[in-house]
Amino acid sequence: MLNDIDRILITQEEIAARVRELGREITATYDQSDPNLTLVPILSGSVIFLADVMRQLPIRMKIGLVTVSSYQGATTEGVAPQMPTISDLDIAGQDVLVIDDILDTGRTLRLVTSRIRELQPRSVRTCVLLRKPSRAPSDFTADFIGFDVEDSFVVGYGLDYDGHYRNYPNIGVLRPELYES
Ligand code: XMP
Repeated sequence: MLNDIDRILITQEEIAARVRELGREITATYDQSDPNLTLVPILSGSVIFLADVMRQLPIRMKIGLVTVSSYQGATTEGVAPQMPTISDLDIAGQDVLVIDDILDTGRTLRLVTSRIRELQPRSVRTCVLLRKPSRAPSDFTADFIGFDVEDSFVVGYGLDYDGHYRNYPNIGVLRPELYES
């Protein structure tokens, strides 16, 4: 696995430090006297980020899961995201924080947040570990962003190529010959 990584963009130490900062930013945003928070991670890419960031939030909370798939293999030209499976989300009146691995074109987060709003939560915010500013739309962004990254296909810390590399602890760029044919 390690030989497949062309270069590291963000080290695991840098991720850990930024996740602690994000935890402080998110905690300061919510009213501690009236905690009503539901984290909604978008599976599967956000699982490692979720596990780390939620432990930085000393807030009473629940988790609801959403599954969306849009990318196949390593193309950064994603097909349209499928309608999310929002299973048993009981979020009416809740403060919802949607967690995703990366904001690329923004189509996934737009779709998920619009579906979530239909369930009448008290508030909806979004948190992503990564954003590709060169691709993200000018009229849509996330409320909390870990890092801006270049427009390369990145893997690690939950992000995959064809299902692999999610367990790579840094954020890295794959050797191009692995996915360019
Ligand atoms: P959109 O374009 O909808 O994309 O904002 C969001 C979803 O696409 C996946 N994605 C990536 N996955 N490396 C990955 O492993 C990437 O560089 C990348 N770019 C987009 C990801 O699942 C994200 O939730």
